[in-house]
Amino acid sequence: MVALASDHAGFEYKENVKRLLDQLGISYKDFGTFSVESTDYPDWAHRASEAIISGECDRGIFICGTGIGMSIIANKHKGIRAAACESTTAARLSRQHNDANVLAFGERIVGRESAGDIVRTFLSTSFEGGRHERRVNKIHSLTGL
Ligand code: RB5
Repeated sequence: MVALASDHAGFEYKENVKRLLDQLGISYKDFGTFSVESTDYPDWAHRASEAIISGECDRGIFICGTGIGMSIIANKHKGIRAAACESTTAARLSRQHNDANVLAFGERIVGRESAGDIVRTFLSTSFEGGRHERRVNKIHSLTGL
C-alpha cells in the first residue's frame, strides 16, 4: 500500500500519480491534501509518514512544490528513508543503494512526463542489499531514527 501526500503545490501531480497507480494496479491511500487551497506541507507528510511507521503502508510518494520540504519532514520520522528525486536515475539509485521507502518530488521542478517515469522507476526497482544494507542500517543506528 502506497501512502500518498501532497500540499497544494503538489496536488495536481498527486492526482496524476493516483491515475498512474490505478493503471498499474497498485493500491494506495491518499492522506491529503484534497484541493489546491494553500496549506502546510508538514501536516500531510506527517500523516503519511505515520502510516508507514505503523505498517499500514509500506512506501510513500510525497509531492510538494520542490520535493524538498516533504523529504525533510519525512526524514524526521523513525524508519523513513525519503529521497527527493528529480530524475529516474536518482529514483533508481535511491531504491538500489538507499532502500528509500519514500519518494519525494516537486511539481514545480519535474516535468509531468518525467514525474510518471520517476514514479514507475521508484516502484519497480529493488534494493540491492549487500554492502548497501550495512550502510542503510547505519543511518538508523547512528541517528536513532
Ligand atoms: C509551497 O509554496 C512550497 O513552499 C512547498 O510546496 C514546498 O516546495 C516546500 O518545500
